[in-house]
Formats: sequence, C-alpha cells, structure tokens
Amino acid sequence: MEYRNILVKTEDKIALVTINREKALNALNDEVIAELQDFFRHAWNDESIGCVILTGAGKAFIAGADIAELAQCDVQKAVKKSMLGLYLAQSIENFPRPVIAAVNGFALGGGCELAMACDIRLASEKAKFGQPEVNLGLIPGYGGTQRLARLVGRGKAKQMIFTGELIDAHEAHRIGLVDEVYPPEELMNKAMEMARLILSKASVAVATAKECINRGLDVNIQSGCDFEKANFGNIFGTSDAVEGMKAFLEKRKAEFKGK
Ligand code: CAA
Repeated sequence: MEYRNILVKTEDKIALVTINREKALNALNDEVIAELQDFFRHAWNDESIGCVILTGAGKAFIAGADIAELAQCDVQKAVKKSMLGLYLAQSIENFPRPVIAAVNGFALGGGCELAMACDIRLASEKAKFGQPEVNLGLIPGYGGTQRLARLVGRGKAKQMIFTGELIDAHEAHRIGLVDEVYPPEELMNKAMEMARLILSKASVAVATAKECINRGLDVNIQSGCDFEKANFGNIFGTSDAVEGMKAFLEKRKAEFKGK
C-alpha cells in the first residue's frame, strides 16, 4: 500500500511512524486508519523491526477521529468506524514488539486512545491530552472508556470523559497517563534512546513480558500468575536466556541473538 498520510523510517531496527496530516492536526480519517493498520500488519512479521515509535507531524500527535467524516455517519457507519479504530488499537496493543508513543502535541479523542494502546507514553511538555467527545455529543469510540479507566482509575477517567477538559503533560504524568515528560526538543531523542535501550535486551524476553502484562490485566491475578509461570518456564528454552545467565556468571556483557 502506498502511504499518503504516514511516514515510515526504519533505522537500527526502530521504525519511526509519523502521522503526517498536519492540515487537520493528524486527525484519523479512514485513510490514516487504513495506512496505520497496513503498517502494523506488515511489521508484525518483519523481524527487521524490533520497536516502533509512533508520533505526529507538527503541533499535534493526533487531534482525534476526523470530525468531518464522523458527521457523515449513521448508526451503522459509526459502529464500523469504531470497529476499525478498535482493531487498530488492538493491533498496536498486541503487536509482538514494543510500541512507544512519542506524544508531541494534542492527543485528543482517538489520538489519546491510540496513545493508550501503546506500551509506553513519552510526552513533550507541549502535549495536551483529553477525551473531548462529549463536546460533540459523542463518547470515546476507540477504547477510551476502557483503557483510560484502567490506566488512571475510574474516577479520573470519568472526570476527563464527563468534562471533556484537556490536561497538560505534567498533569497527565501525575495521574499515570504518560510515563515521562521531556522538553519538546528532547522528546524524539529520548524516545530513540529508550527504544535502543529496550533493543539491547533479550527481545524474546521483552515480547513475552509484554504478552504477560497485557494478558494479566484482563484476567484475575491467579490466572495472570499462571500465565506468567508457564511463560517463565518457556523462556528457559531460548538461547538468549542461556546466554544471559552464563554472561552474568562469567562477568561479561551478554550477546543476545533474539532467539
Ligand atoms: N477532525 C477533523 N479536523 C480537525 C480535527 C478533527 N478531530 N481537529 C482539528 N481539525 C482541523 C480543524 O478543523 C482545522 O481545519 P481548517 O484549518 O480547515 O479549519 C485544523 O485542523 C486546525 O485546527 P484548529 O484551527 O481548530 O486548531 P487550534 O489550534 O485552534 O485548536 C484543537 C486545536 C484544540 C485540537 C482543535 O482543533 C480541536 O478541538 N479539535 C477537535 C478535537 C476533538 O474533538 N477530538 C475528538 C474527535 S472525536 C473522536 O476522536 C471520537 C473517538 O473516540 C474515536
């Protein structure tokens, strides 16, 4: 698929995906959703991509679903739109390698929802977060009512969703919606630095830990721990686990092969 709304640059196993629809503050229209979905579908089996960084061009990360398109929806079309957005969020959440959101500016509505589907959220001091759908007579449709409550607790999630108010990056950090906040000029370097640090680790272990954390959040703690136990056992079948422990005991740096 030829991309007209996203830019993809892969270097040193890090795919930098930039939503590039600046004139509409990177709002998610059908084309942007389809291109992002296509990227994640192809990247799934592409071993040359070890980590993805998602960001936006200009002053927005993503200002939400495209309101001009939403205004054309009847009930059926709205359900379909929601399904496509939810499917994209799930593709990010279940992507078998880490996905970092580098939130450079507005992350509103569907933008906040896609950021929440990422594994780690890094934000510029200029970033603003919100679920302003009630201002449009709508509710979040790409998982916001579910992921926000899980991330920040039901009280804060309800406050943000009921009032539609935007919060700045420091407040988002305080409530646990973002993990780190940086000056704008440092954001991308910090995101690359974090991606490189993660890539220097045993990649099967990182991927397995991601799956355990995600699966565990959806089930009771006993089932989550059972899942962890089985995966802890499985990881001993990887050569990276053998190498990692051997290197420690030999007092040298481990050389991981991703197997
Ligand atoms: N959809 C379509 N176009 C959008 C958009 C969106 N979500 N957000 C911004 N734009 C467009 C504007 O219409 C404007 O286009 P024109 O230049 O052609 O008029 C352009 O982007 C620049 O926007 P503004 O002039 O409004 O920029 P600003 O700096 O004054 O304000 C803003 C920035 C506060 C983000 C404001 O644009 C805004 O409130 N945007 C809408 C945010 C929103 O409500 N998002 C939720 C959408 S619904 C949703 O996402 C549902 C879901 O859960 C799936």
